[in-house]
Amino acid sequence: MSSQRKLRYADDVLGGPEAAERARLAAMATVCDPTTIRVLDELGVAAGWRCLEVGAGGGSIAAWLAGRVAATGQVVATDIDTGHLTGLTAECLTVLRHDITRDPPPDGAPFDLIHARFVLEHLPERDKVLDRLVTWLRPGGTIVIESIANFPLDSSPHPPFGQAMHAIGQVLAKTIGTDSTWARRFPGPLADRNLVGVGTTAHLPATGGANASALCWTLTLTRLRARIREFDLASDDTLDQALELLADPAFFDLAFATAIAWGRRPA
Ligand SMILES: C[S@@+](CC[C@H](N)C(=O)[O-])C[C@H]1O[C@@H](n2cnc3c(N)ncnc32)[C@H](O)[C@@H]1O
Repeated sequence: MSSQRKLRYADDVLGGPEAAERARLAAMATVCDPTTIRVLDELGVAAGWRCLEVGAGGGSIAAWLAGRVAATGQVVATDIDTGHLTGLTAECLTVLRHDITRDPPPDGAPFDLIHARFVLEHLPERDKVLDRLVTWLRPGGTIVIESIANFPLDSSPHPPFGQAMHAIGQVLAKTIGTDSTWARRFPGPLADRNLVGVGTTAHLPATGGANASALCWTLTLTRLRARIREFDLASDDTLDQALELLADPAFFDLAFATAIAWGRRPA
């Protein structure tokens, strides 16, 4: 089992070219984009800004940024796997295969905005990555980090669902080093790096009613099921019951929260 801890996100744990992964990223975007866009809008993202979208996934936020910064701005959308970004086209937008843990700053640095959603919590070297990202901001530039946070799970009134969601967090921790508690300190990691104007909020979407969040967690649980069983983190019965609940239009609960933190490099 110990060799499994050396796995990375795209080592067939999550990621990959399959239609199910594309659907998972699309469901994630449906659930989370409105909140992300509200936060970016409130932080003043405007025409002419140079933006870096880290771990862009299916590219929905990169596409929104490209529309907002318009022809005078620039958006660089990076990912270690750009397979789901092929449909992105805008004059101001560049798609780049890039590993945020080790590759040099992309052309366009320093940036007015750096945004990463559901990326750093999956990287064991998240503190070093955050150090790097902060140095890629122009003076006065803004960084926005979003991460899953597991704090709502303990109070779930549906034990099979709560256990299955916990098992997702645990199996990602054991395989790729995900930390689903890191974001509970937000905006600490940004304040620690001497950013100013720091703030935080949390988004806690309902999972259920056969909505996009239920679909996203169904696809995630299905993808991780074999590894959850391998580590014996939940029984087959529990996982079957959780999937049945997620498919039930009458079911509602709260899964992981999304914690969002922001801050500016001093001008
Ligand atoms: C959970 S998905 C989130 C996608 C997108 N940010 C969103 O919120 O819709 C995580 C993304 O981070 C990418 N990723 C994982 N490790 C990475 C790394 N070292 N460098 C760049 N991207 C990475 C994955 O390929 C995947 O697209």
